[in-house]
Amino acid sequence: MNAALRSLVIPAMLGVSTLLVACGGDSEDASSTPTASSTSTSKPSVNPAALKGAMVFKKTCATCHNADGKGMPDNGPNLHNNEFVKTNTDEQLFEYVVTGRVVEDGADMPPRGGFTEAILPDEDIRAVLAFIRTYEGNAYTAP
Ligand code: HEC
Repeated sequence: MNAALRSLVIPAMLGVSTLLVACGGDSEDASSTPTASSTSTSKPSVNPAALKGAMVFKKTCATCHNADGKGMPDNGPNLHNNEFVKTNTDEQLFEYVVTGRVVEDGADMPPRGGFTEAILPDEDIRAVLAFIRTYEGNAYTAP
């Protein structure tokens, strides 16, 4: 009985399968190299000023901007990836922190965070700004 099936080989599938094999090519080499291995050149691990700044931040800024710098409701805003920080130079940010900002319908940023120059001297402000810069580039996160 089944001997008859041998003669019914299915020739119809041959054409389809050959088309699918051709596309798998050798384009992978080019795309895998450039991004992964750019570690050693740009980042000087931890800026020492930023390390000091992390302590200054806890002492003089964290009350309003939160210990992690991510802000508090109705008080200091989130400083991570903050547009104001990103678009101002170190010198402009220094002036800003020294001067503060009065806000009509909300919380003020007090001059020097509300501290005297004896408690928060200029060099500490520069250190804390170096620290805040690390919020932009994931270079360093406070312990
Ligand atoms: C008493 C609370 C308080 C303290 C302390 C304080 N800030 Fe602020 N800070 C604010 C408030 C409120 C604002 C938002 C002001 C506004 O809306 O313009 C602000 C804004 C800022 C901004 C601008 C961010 C933006 O998006 O406009 C920076 C930068 C900043 N503070 C840095 C600091 C640093 C650095 C310290 C510590 C030396 C500090 N602040 C201490 C309350 C505080």
